[in-house]
Amino acid sequence: MRNMAYVNGRFLPLADAKTSVEDRAYQFADGVYEVVKFYGRNAVRLEPHLVRLMESSAHLRIAGGPGLDEWKTIIEQLATENELVDDETNEYILYQQVSRGVAPRNHLFPKDAIEPSVVAYFRKAPVYSREQRETGIALSLQPDERWNRCYIKSVCLLPAVMAKQAAADAGCFEALLVRNGIVTEGSATNTYCVREGIVYTHPTGPHILTGVTRTLVFEAAEKAGVEIREEAVTPDQFAAADEAFISSTTMGIMPATRLDGKPVGKSGKPGPVTRQLAQALDAIVASELRGHEVTAK
Ligand SMILES: Cc1ncc(COP(=O)(O)O)c(C=O)c1O
Repeated sequence: MRNMAYVNGRFLPLADAKTSVEDRAYQFADGVYEVVKFYGRNAVRLEPHLVRLMESSAHLRIAGGPGLDEWKTIIEQLATENELVDDETNEYILYQQVSRGVAPRNHLFPKDAIEPSVVAYFRKAPVYSREQRETGIALSLQPDERWNRCYIKSVCLLPAVMAKQAAADAGCFEALLVRNGIVTEGSATNTYCVREGIVYTHPTGPHILTGVTRTLVFEAAEKAGVEIREEAVTPDQFAAADEAFISSTTMGIMPATRLDGKPVGKSGKPGPVTRQLAQALDAIVASELRGHEVTAK
């Protein structure tokens, strides 16, 4: 692929894709973003990602960004500029960001309307090894120090960065965030535990991001005949569960088999419900890609 980016109406090499030091994303984290998975030129659930981007912008009162159709046109052109190889074995990530724009530094929104800064570019998708999927990843309990508007996918990610780094420092792959004695989600993933065949995950609302993959997990559960409940659990309940897993756009469903150094479940191995859901989710994505239900072509 070529490393081409989109910045405010122009396509240019990623190395030349720049914004001002007075961009409000830079000074105030005053912006929103999305990450979309592509197999070749076909996106997984592009529209829900674009809708979430526009809703996140609206929550922050960032106006004037591209609408649904404009985004689709930008992404098609960007895929062409990048000469994305159109076969499913080539996996890419599309990053999109919309900030309030560039203005002299002032906490208040600029008085006069400014244009938002709009950025998008592709990267090769991160690769998760077969071993990782077969062994499962390790989680580390960390305090959830984020704000009460986690449903907004804002670039204000420092509490998530600190939590993920603390988890990595403890030899773990992802943080399992805890707020007021209950598990919310991961630093960049939704989290689930399984008890007696029933999947538990935190309800939507102020304390989690409603993951596009989380929605897919619910659809996969329905297909697989697995019950899933939006009920919060404590860290102790999570630790005592039979199985656990996490989900995100970049990794789909990933089994979580250790929590703070101890195995989750009796075996500490990916469990049957996790495997069943992962298969059902893969089948949904594969059928949509084959049907080209959502495409950036
Ligand atoms: C805090 C948080 N929760 C959940 C997710 C998973 O969301 P999605 O499935 O839309 O990638 C992310 C993804 O970045 C995230 O940052």
